Amino acid sequence: MARSLDGRSFTFTLADATPIVAGELVSLSDPEGHRALGFVEQTAPDAQGSIVGSGRLLGVVDADDRLISRGTRPFAEALVTEATADDIDRLYSASRASLEIGTLVGAPAVAAKLLPHRFNRHTFWCGQSGSGKTYALGVLIEQLLSHTDLPIVIFDPNSDFVKLDQTVPSADPAEVQRLASREIRVLRPDGDGEHLRARFLSLPLRVRAALLRLDPLLDRDEYNTLMHLDSRLQVEDTAEFMRSLIASTSPADRALALRIENLGILNWQVWARDEKAATEIVVERPNATVLDLGGFEAAEEPLIAALSVLDDLWARREERRPVLIVIDEAHNLCSPELTSPLQVAIRELITQIAAEGRKFGLWLLLSTQRPSKIHPSIISQCDNLALMKMSSPLDLAELGSVFGYAPEALLAQSPNFRQGEALFAGGFSPAPAIVQVRDRITVEGGIDVPVPLRS
Ligand SMILES: Nc1ncnc2c1ncn2[C@@H]1O[C@H](COP(=O)(O)OP(=O)(O)OP(=O)(O)O)[C@@H](O)[C@H]1O
Ligand SMILES: [Mg+2]
Repeated sequence: MARSLDGRSFTFTLADATPIVAGELVSLSDPEGHRALGFVEQTAPDAQGSIVGSGRLLGVVDADDRLISRGTRPFAEALVTEATADDIDRLYSASRASLEIGTLVGAPAVAAKLLPHRFNRHTFWCGQSGSGKTYALGVLIEQLLSHTDLPIVIFDPNSDFVKLDQTVPSADPAEVQRLASREIRVLRPDGDGEHLRARFLSLPLRVRAALLRLDPLLDRDEYNTLMHLDSRLQVEDTAEFMRSLIASTSPADRALALRIENLGILNWQVWARDEKAATEIVVERPNATVLDLGGFEAAEEPLIAALSVLDDLWARREERRPVLIVIDEAHNLCSPELTSPLQVAIRELITQIAAEGRKFGLWLLLSTQRPSKIHPSIISQCDNLALMKMSSPLDLAELGSVFGYAPEALLAQSPNFRQGEALFAGGFSPAPAIVQVRDRITVEGGIDVPVPLRS
């Protein structure tokens, strides 16, 4: 039997062995024939050996058999039973959940769905190595591509998403069809397709200075030359420009030329020269743009590519054109431990987008192995949580304290998750749910390297 004093939450006692556990959806029927749906947040045995628990009301079922989320009222007694598959469908319809991400672990016959319109918030995706984050992100991106017009930019450090434009033979033809019309651009460091490139002059001055390891005060003359490069570089090609710098009578010009040459910066692959820069592609808002950050030679190149795109999105924020910014292995770009000037510039940019980007339509989805690998001021801005297997009790406690909307009883199950199982909580899930992520429709890029076995 259950009761609700406030019309929002409920408590219950199970006299018999009714198998109701935390995380489950339940139906609550009162003697007058009214019915509500609820979500069980916790259960525990009491001194008499009964099971007691509590949860949240999700809505009432109306005369037309639909779920109305705003209609919940207090009740003195109601019978608690497990929600049926139809009840779960009612919940999805009421919340307009359409992204089919997998099946519910507690009810494997029932599809688990997320709310596409709630990706207008930042999302944190966490789980230890091998838990299935990148694979599951792929599933989510496919669903967003199939069911929304939300443009997605994917920062892909391990070339995991470079085959997002190819489908697997086993995929359902209707789903393949839905994806076929989507524009997916894959930008890679080299190879036959489109290339991932950036323009030196489009980078913010302090980033250009950081690349050249110039300090505005210690290297006054060279820094000043760099400040005034723009007008000179636009009219000359780089080789000619370098020759003119070296031949210049100004010592600062020559010093800057030697610095550029000694650092080998002009040999980097990342510079756009005659090609399109990534920013010029992202600004067209393809349905998905994959930025393959793996495979550049210099460590700075992927950082420059990432920074150029983030900086341009931020600079154009007033245009208010929505975009989902997916960053896999986000600790590469926003760990509190990063210290090089380029890394700090990127982290500050992401921190700014986390704090202020939401209202401009710049929404982040950050994936990483441990919460402590992302700067706390970024994590605290995330309203959606996806948690995959994570064994460390310390990390789970940290998640519990940051993501108050994720019930502790469900967080505590994370160490036992199998590969591909995830807890979804926050605005993008109609109720917190543990899900077995479904199979991919598109081809995975970087598959795990197998151990060679003796034949
Ligand atoms: N739901 C799934 N169904 C089938 N295979 C999966 C599933 N999830 C993960 N895998 C496989 O498990 C392996 C590891 O998964 P994945 O690369 O997604 O882990 P990860 O959490 O991103 O790890 P890392 O933090 O090391 O990047 C991959 O080879 C992937 O193909
Ligand atoms: Mg991964």
